[in-house]
Amino acid sequence: MTVTRLIVFAGAVAVVLSCSSSPSPTPSPSPGAGPTTSAAPPGGTPGAPGAPGGNAPRVPIPRDSLDKLRAGRVQAMLRTIAGHENEPAEQVFKNVQVLKGLTAGELLNKMDEFGHALSWGCNNCHRLNDFAADSGLRNKARARAMVTMLADINGQYLPKIFPTNTPKATCMTCHRGENSPSQTMVPPRMPGAAPGATRPPAG
Ligand code: HEC
Ligand code: HEC
Repeated sequence: MTVTRLIVFAGAVAVVLSCSSSPSPTPSPSPGAGPTTSAAPPGGTPGAPGAPGGNAPRVPIPRDSLDKLRAGRVQAMLRTIAGHENEPAEQVFKNVQVLKGLTAGELLNKMDEFGHALSWGCNNCHRLNDFAADSGLRNKARARAMVTMLADINGQYLPKIFPTNTPKATCMTCHRGENSPSQTMVPPRMPGAAPGATRPPAG
C-alpha cells in the first residue's frame, strides 16, 4: 500500500469511527486508568446538552476537542521550559527513562502524538500537576512498555524484513485513535463470507 493510500485509509477509518457509536462511559475511573474518550476535562465537565439536572450520562469528548485540549497543554508546557526546547529531554525533564535522544520540544510533540493515536488527553497518563510522577499511573507504565516494544519493532524486526527502505511503525499503526486497537474491519465480515473476506463483493 502506498503512503498516500494508507493516509486516505486511515482518514476513512477515523471518519467512520468518529461517526459510529461512542464507547460506553466508564463509571468512576481510577486515576490514570480506563478508556478515556469519556474522561472529564480538567477544570470542569460541561453538562450533557439538553440534560438539565445532572446525572446525565457522560458524553465522550470529541476528538477535535481533545486535540485542542492537548495542544493547549503542550503550549503551556513549552512556556515553562522556554529557552530549553532544544536541549535533551532527559536533561530538561526529571523522569525520562525510555524516550531518550529527543529534544525537550520533540518529547512534547511525541506526547501529543500518543494522545492523538489513542484519542486520549494528557490526564489519561499523567497527573497534570506532576508530569514526572509514576506512582499509581498504570497507563503511563503501559505507554513506556509500548515505547520499548515499538523500538524493537522498528529497530530489529522491520529492518530484517525490509533491509532497504525500512518502513516505520508508530503508535497510530496499531491504535488508529482507539485505546484498544480493533480486531475487526469496518464494515464487519459478512456472514458466510470466504475466509479473509471483509466486504460483500462490489457491485
Ligand atoms: C499514552 C500515555 C501518555 C500521554 C497521553 C501523555 N504522556 Fe507524557 N509521558 C508519558 C510517558 C510514558 C512518559 C515518560 C517517558 C519516558 O520515561 O521516557 C511521559 C513523560 C512526560 C513528560 C516528562 C515529565 C518529566 O519531568 O519527566 C512531560 C512533560 C509530559 N509527558 C507531558 C505530556 C503532555 C503535555 C501530554 C499531553 C499533550 C502528555 N504528556 C500525554 C506518557 C503519556
Ligand atoms: C503492534 C501494535 C501496537 C503498537 C505499535 C502500539 N500499541 Fe499500544 N496497545 C496495543 C494493544 C494490542 C493493546 C491492548 C489493548 C487492549 O487492552 O485491548 C495496547 C494497549 C495500550 C495501552 C493501554 C490501553 C488501555 O486501555 O489499557 C496504552 C497506554 C498504549 N497501548 C499506548 C501505546 C503507545 C503510546 C504506543 C506508541 C509508542 C503504542 N501503544 C503502540 C498494540 C500496540
